[in-house]
Amino acid sequence: MFGKVKKEAQIDKEQLELIENAQKRIKQKKRLYIHFVVFLIGSLFLILLNLVLGFGKDFMPFNTDWFVFAVLIWLFFLIYHTFNVFVTHRFMGKAWEQEQLNKLVAKQKERIEVLNQKVEKENSVQTSEKKKSELTIIVAAAENNAIGKDNQLIWHLSDDLKRFKNLTKGHHIIMGRKTFESFPNPLPNRTHVVITRQEHYKVPEGVIVVNSLEDALDAVRSDMQPFVIGGGEIYKQAMAIADRIEITRVHASFEADTFFPEINTANWKKVGETYHRKDEKNEFPYSFITYTRV
Ligand SMILES: NC(=O)c1ccc[n+]([C@@H]2O[C@H](COP(=O)([O-])OP(=O)(O)OC[C@H]3O[C@@H](n4cnc5c(N)ncnc54)[C@H](OP(=O)(O)O)[C@@H]3O)[C@@H](O)[C@H]2O)c1
Repeated sequence: MFGKVKKEAQIDKEQLELIENAQKRIKQKKRLYIHFVVFLIGSLFLILLNLVLGFGKDFMPFNTDWFVFAVLIWLFFLIYHTFNVFVTHRFMGKAWEQEQLNKLVAKQKERIEVLNQKVEKENSVQTSEKKKSELTIIVAAAENNAIGKDNQLIWHLSDDLKRFKNLTKGHHIIMGRKTFESFPNPLPNRTHVVITRQEHYKVPEGVIVVNSLEDALDAVRSDMQPFVIGGGEIYKQAMAIADRIEITRVHASFEADTFFPEINTANWKKVGETYHRKDEKNEFPYSFITYTRV
């Protein structure tokens, strides 16, 4: 089954054409050479016929022996033949025509390639313009969906905070007023969008205040991946419109006053999951799980 396959010498099409052309040229030159020899012998024969054997001695057009005209006419055909072999066939023969055709085809192909690239570029610009932004919920929730108590987080997981920082860096983060107030200061390198029903809610410079989730979505329109970072009330409302959930599932249950909504697997598909044991920096085992909307 895996025995050696005998290799046959292969000549590609281009090489074959070159060989065929060379053979044709040799034949053309051979025929010209034969013509030349026949011309020499024939001319000698005509001269002998006329001068020695006296054939047509009385036939002297323009007072010249007839063999002179015969040899000249033949010479004209020989020159014509030579011209054909060295000029017409060499420069304007079938091979030359094919070469010109190939050149034209190659030029056209080049132009088509340039046009294709142009169209592809325009298409990719259009698709990236059309690409919908991906509203992502990011949360850490216990087995019983607990997420907070007394407006604070319940656990300390160093890896979860790192993941939160990495994923949300440079993006807009949408949150409820209570979650915003649970931070000692706004988080660096992120644009905060705080939702509140209060009309004159005071915030530090750079923080955006809106009065509804719809207004929050308007405020983050330029961001391809805005994040909803909590808390319980905002998660509940965002579940219906989010495209993705990045959840840190803490493998323990806790007493709490704020919970994450149940993830309905009819609407959400798990697309990634990594389990981590507890260690000195993470007091509970946990899994990073990603869901996308079905
Ligand atoms: N584990 C996690 O990943 C995580 C993440 C974030 C937060 N948390 C925890 O969650 C808890 C906070 O969550 P929470 O549910 O109590 O509060 P929250 O969702 O952070 O904020 C609720 C506030 O948001 C405003 N709000 C809500 N819906 C609104 C709407 N449709 N229009 C306008 N304003 C609206 C209201 O503010 P006003 O009262 O000012 O009108 C409301 O009181 C804390 O314990 C926090 O530590 C946990």
